[in-house]
Amino acid sequence: MPEKLNRRQFVVAGTGTGVLASTRVFTSAPQVITRGVKPAVVAAANGNRSKDGAGLTCVAKAFKMITGGADVLDACIAGVNIVELDPDDTSVGYGGLPNADGVVQLDASVMHGPKKSGGAVACLEGVRTPSLVAKKVMEETDHVLLVGRDAQRFARNMGFTIEDDLNTPKSRELYLEWKRRTDPDHYLNLRDRAQRGYQVALEMVAEGKIDPDHFHGTINCNAVNSKGEICGTTTTSGLAWKIPGRVGDSPILGAGLYVDGEIGAAGSTGRGEANLFSLASFLIVESMRQGKPPKDAGMAALQRIKSQTVAKRLLNSRGQPNFGVTFYILNVKGEYAGVTMYNPNENSTFAVCTENGPQNVKLEPLLTGSAAD
Ligand code: GLY
Repeated sequence: MPEKLNRRQFVVAGTGTGVLASTRVFTSAPQVITRGVKPAVVAAANGNRSKDGAGLTCVAKAFKMITGGADVLDACIAGVNIVELDPDDTSVGYGGLPNADGVVQLDASVMHGPKKSGGAVACLEGVRTPSLVAKKVMEETDHVLLVGRDAQRFARNMGFTIEDDLNTPKSRELYLEWKRRTDPDHYLNLRDRAQRGYQVALEMVAEGKIDPDHFHGTINCNAVNSKGEICGTTTTSGLAWKIPGRVGDSPILGAGLYVDGEIGAAGSTGRGEANLFSLASFLIVESMRQGKPPKDAGMAALQRIKSQTVAKRLLNSRGQPNFGVTFYILNVKGEYAGVTMYNPNENSTFAVCTENGPQNVKLEPLLTGSAAD
């Protein structure tokens, strides 16, 4: 071992940890000093609601695991598994609101920053934890995305239990209410029927029958450990009562989730179609690569979505988007932000866990007022 590291040796040693060391002269055996990233986990608001048997929420569980040395992606997935398995969360996994035929179809993606790899499943039926199947796609295949019946067959081959029906009494009851109200026999045109279905669902949100966060549903969870290793996952039952086969942004890398191990991570909840059109999670990570802090990167992506929204049916009376979309953003330095199109009463939060414990942090809105006005 050399007594001192020259500049090049120093940089190489630091890079191997995923972060560069601060300036320091080594006078004895070389020692890799990390930048001392403060570990952090961010997630959608439901990341601080459902709890496991030990009383931990998604973000608390993931934080405990990353600070205990677990792989960061395993920690994110273990966190969202709590929400996927919670029958009371009607936006994710078991008990997620079904499609227009009453069938629960799930989407999920995972990305591993240091390994520069990812996997996803879409329209998966019968498996409560699609995030774990997405990880298997990443680990066990040469592919990134498996869909539908074949994704289910893959899951069966990987040893997952396949269930006939992931509805719960709660999700079935809400489906029947929606079905009764829409009476699809009167809507011969598929587009009119879908539009009517959307309107009825919004009415049910306005009446408080469905939590607004659970209409498009979803949980995204991103985490970074003290070495700057960053990963994320997004998992959802998708838009409530969607046309069967509809896939949202969650399983599409770059849309519902994007992670670059050198830069950061972003993931979303809300209207997936808007995000699919802009690939906003990718855009956010690219903006951070250009030097923007997480909040500014997120606001730029929301602005992009706003400027791409021109269809009348998607605009409110002020000519602004009539839907919500939210991003959860974390960089490799442990800096984070949660940004959203609207936060009318400042009530909407996202979940964070740091050394200070789990917290609900206010989402920063791009626009004032509400989506509906
Ligand atoms: N963002 C979830 C979805 O639109 O499916």
